[in-house]
Amino acid sequence: MDKRFYLTTAIDYVNGAPHLGHAYEKVVADVIARARRSLGQSVFFLTGLDEHGQKVQQAAQDLGRSPQAYCDGLAVQWRSFVEALGLSHDDFVRTTEARHRHIVTLLLERLHASGHFYKSAYRGFYSVKEETFLTEKDRNPDGTWDPQWGVVQELVEENWYFKLGEHQAWLVDHLERHPEFVQPAHRRNEVLGFLRSQKLEDLCISRPASRLSWGIPLPFDPGYVTYVWFDALVNYFSIPAALGDPVALAALGAPAPAGSTLSAWPADLHLIGKDILKFHAVYWPIMLHALGAPLPRTLLVHGWWQKDGAKLSKSTGNVVDPLAIIADWGLDAFRYYVVRELAIGPDGNWTDEGFRVRYNSELANGLGNLLNRAVNMLNKYRAGVVPAASNTLEAAATAATAKARECYLDNDPQGALIAAWELVDRANLFVEETKPFHLAKDPAQAALLDSVLYNLVESCRILAVLVHPVMPGTAGKIFAQLKTCGEPSEWRQSTWGGLGEGHQVGAPIPLFPRKDLAPKPGAK
Ligand code: ME8
Ligand code: MG
Repeated sequence: MDKRFYLTTAIDYVNGAPHLGHAYEKVVADVIARARRSLGQSVFFLTGLDEHGQKVQQAAQDLGRSPQAYCDGLAVQWRSFVEALGLSHDDFVRTTEARHRHIVTLLLERLHASGHFYKSAYRGFYSVKEETFLTEKDRNPDGTWDPQWGVVQELVEENWYFKLGEHQAWLVDHLERHPEFVQPAHRRNEVLGFLRSQKLEDLCISRPASRLSWGIPLPFDPGYVTYVWFDALVNYFSIPAALGDPVALAALGAPAPAGSTLSAWPADLHLIGKDILKFHAVYWPIMLHALGAPLPRTLLVHGWWQKDGAKLSKSTGNVVDPLAIIADWGLDAFRYYVVRELAIGPDGNWTDEGFRVRYNSELANGLGNLLNRAVNMLNKYRAGVVPAASNTLEAAATAATAKARECYLDNDPQGALIAAWELVDRANLFVEETKPFHLAKDPAQAALLDSVLYNLVESCRILAVLVHPVMPGTAGKIFAQLKTCGEPSEWRQSTWGGLGEGHQVGAPIPLFPRKDLAPKPGAK
């Protein structure tokens, strides 16, 4: 059983409304998953929901519902969100599921048995909103607390602690030896800077059940539930373990079931936003190290979207509703825009105008127009029959394919689109240069027209393969119009010369209708 390329997204808080930031992360992960599959790797792609914790308990209580019923209701909405984004995930985790809770319990028992926890009294400050303890360092110089923490309570309580601090030197060493562990590099430097300048405090991993019952009970102390992050991070590991992954189970001291079918652990890629870097780059590797489990290979850290230069915020109405955009402009246009607009790393800024410009210039007038002209002219001048192979654009196609492949494998889907659009632009320019509509009027130019038409339709066929990870629907439409057999989801279809002489293509259908007069994208 070969190990799969295993990638994950952050699991979203079930009580938040799905927004552009969530959609972006999920789409980027999906593009990476699809690209890997296209390139022949078997993939395990996991996404899901984070459902425990105080905020959920509080929200359910306010509505007079049980936390489980509250989560079940919201989970329906989140699943349909993921559906609407066209994700190709292999599993969807909810942290309230028995399979997850069971593995978290085993993991807690094991860490407890091997002496990684201790109980101690604590007096200090607690942010309910962020579900985290605060120290004097988090206070403003004037003694107040930043609004980001919400209501800050002073607490005295006994809790269980994880000996995080013990592993500080090990973690620094790990980060130094594995530059690929946190990407982009400036995020790795941020973690190293933090670890080199501050002593790592032990991590409180429990909450008294009297205060917070909505969590996974500590198996060795019934008065407590597990801190939500200590539960949530484990989702990456619990699902493969629950599906019989032998490496994950071995780390728990559990035998792999006979006939287990999944080999995924360790994860190859955790895609996360910049705000949850410390949890993933400090807590998570130390938890796994303490357990004796192999570590994930890479944390890929994306930036945050804003709209019109300001924070996304429901209360101020500064939001982008991905579902409204998809309804107005199509799923592939949305996926294209977010991937093309923002590299993985920096922050992005959504503007409705920016969306319209890319839609019209790159999709409608770029790829869409190229396909439409190619198929249209082939139908008009050659009754839709592909002429003999010609290779004028072969070098451009091969270069774009090689570059796009490299970018996809380098987790740079934006770069892959840029490479693909070099071919889109080259082929559209080729139409302007060769003027097939003039050639068609001159019988002496028939051979040249054949050659031009071949180069155009064959470039379109290859472009379908290149854009497939980002725009699977569009790639399928291109193949359908070309009536070509094979799947655009297979990278090996991108070799020049796939369309054979005498092949009959279908009728032209616009991929991206021009929307110059359309209302603004569906930002509410
Ligand atoms: O943090 N732009 O959940 P979450 C881009 N449950 N990405 C954004 C964003 C924005 N404006 N806003 C949020 C949690 N995100 C935890 C994760 S993982 C074991 C537990 C990203 O719903 C954010 O950075 O607050 C994170 O990666 C993801 O959306 C979920 O955020
Ligand atoms: Mg958040």
